[in-house]
Amino acid sequence: MRVNYDDLLKTVAALTEGEDDEVALMATVTCEVHHSDDRFDWTGFYRVTAPELLKIGPYQGGHGCLVIPFHRGVCGAAARTREVQLVSDVDAFPGHIACASSTRSELVLPVQDAAGTLIGVFDIDSNQPDSFTRDDIVGLGRVLKLVFQNS
Ligand code: SME
Repeated sequence: MRVNYDDLLKTVAALTEGEDDEVALMATVTCEVHHSDDRFDWTGFYRVTAPELLKIGPYQGGHGCLVIPFHRGVCGAAARTREVQLVSDVDAFPGHIACASSTRSELVLPVQDAAGTLIGVFDIDSNQPDSFTRDDIVGLGRVLKLVFQNS
């Protein structure tokens, strides 16, 4: 099963319309994304809860690490740089945090609100190597922008 980002965007837009609670939005996005594609083995948010600190938010899959400082892991790199991190081979990423030893590749997008404040990161892990493409970055970026920036 492969995600159709146009369909995903429509579904998420319909489900989240009128909602502004960030955790409710994150939970809904996580559920819809996770079940849209069988490359996605762990899907979820880490939220900025203190300066330079990420804490686990809504997710689907096996248990995730609870706390990730900005200086650690792929999620930390996305938060620190505010740039998308596409990691084709997690073993080649220095400092990758292995919450699940089955993870082979991952994609992490920074998440900002309408004011441009970083509210967290969106992390998708795959048990297959080199799972993610430019289309995933664009498609997921559209979903996050619609939900968290209302645009
Ligand atoms: N892959 C992340 C850690 C979080 S989990 O895998 C759920 C990282 O290195 O930032």
